[in-house]
Amino acid sequence: ILKMTELDLANKRVLIREDLNVPIKDGKVTSDARLRAALPTIKLAVDAGAKVMVMSHLGRPTEGLFEDEFSLLPVVNYLQNILSCPVRLEKEYLTGLDVQAGEVVILENVRFNKGEGKDDEALSKQYAALCDIYVMDAFGTAHRAQASTHGVGLFAPVACAGPLLAGELDALGKALSNPARPMVAVVGGSKVSTKLTVLDALSKIADQLIVGGGISNTFIAARGHNVGLSLHEKDLIPEAQRLMANLDIPEATDVRVGKNFSDQEPAVIKQVNDVQDDEEIMDYGPQTAAHVAEVLKGAKTILWNGPCGVFEFDNFSKGTEVVARAIAESSAFSIAGGGDTLAAIDKWDLADKISYISTGGGAFLEFVEGKPLPAVVMLEARAAK
Ligand code: 3PG
Repeated sequence: ILKMTELDLANKRVLIREDLNVPIKDGKVTSDARLRAALPTIKLAVDAGAKVMVMSHLGRPTEGLFEDEFSLLPVVNYLQNILSCPVRLEKEYLTGLDVQAGEVVILENVRFNKGEGKDDEALSKQYAALCDIYVMDAFGTAHRAQASTHGVGLFAPVACAGPLLAGELDALGKALSNPARPMVAVVGGSKVSTKLTVLDALSKIADQLIVGGGISNTFIAARGHNVGLSLHEKDLIPEAQRLMANLDIPEATDVRVGKNFSDQEPAVIKQVNDVQDDEEIMDYGPQTAAHVAEVLKGAKTILWNGPCGVFEFDNFSKGTEVVARAIAESSAFSIAGGGDTLAAIDKWDLADKISYISTGGGAFLEFVEGKPLPAVVMLEARAAK
């Protein structure tokens, strides 16, 4: 695919689709990981003398309406503090826009525009008419075929991949298509059902699979243990057994349990075969965590998605912390993705020690599943013309 870095951007109207969909509370950005990831692309375009427009969605507003709580204004305020050039928010842009080289214009939430979600052709053409070059850089939204991620690229004079998107595809490709071995995948989170296709895909790639969180509870049940009140999915026990038959999935030997789902609840360490009916597994026990850390120590490639316990509760955060630290200390090529995973990495301030942190949540999982990402398919088709 064509890359932004291969093009001369001077004096060109450059429309960059970023994923600036970040959590906001009381008008302030609460996690800026995605914004920091988008900054180099924006700076590169400004420094190259382009007339820079940046567009993104934020949240899931009702299409066709302007809803204050979904405005990109907090993001614009954030960027104004970081970028050394003028940054402004533009609400009316569909019929044309005046942009100067040296400034950055942020287009208000694309999901306020009717037709965005269904990849409407007329809207896509309106976006395309704003620019000489369309840069798709929003890896986090590359799994959506929408007007700002897909349709616009069909009609823009030139469509290319931005450095963030290109970097994500490289890093994920490196981890998945020809990984240095052994490759260990860590999949945590609450439900097997939401990650079954990911688990299946990884079972064909990884040498070992570590399961955590509610997912691990279903595997514990699949080994015939009582899981009491633990979050687990009975109907997916056969799937868990099938995965265990095909792949080395280290066994949990001990767990941390509680009787109430609360951040005040003390953690009690139990052997895995000693969980009572009124208890809930909320974390690995110390032996299990130590074993998982040992497995990670031997890995040459690590892919991590999903926390390994209820890490928001300090008493049940040890397992996730041990995993995060083991990955951070490892010399393997390590890649992590997903909102909760990034929150866990931030909780222990380990972001600098992971080889690559993906900005994708759903997009990261779909890439791992091997699904084609519509925005990437569009760029490939344009490059092939
Ligand atoms: C995400 O946060 O996963 C992306 O920004 C996509 O958002 P969406 O699921 O609302 O399309």
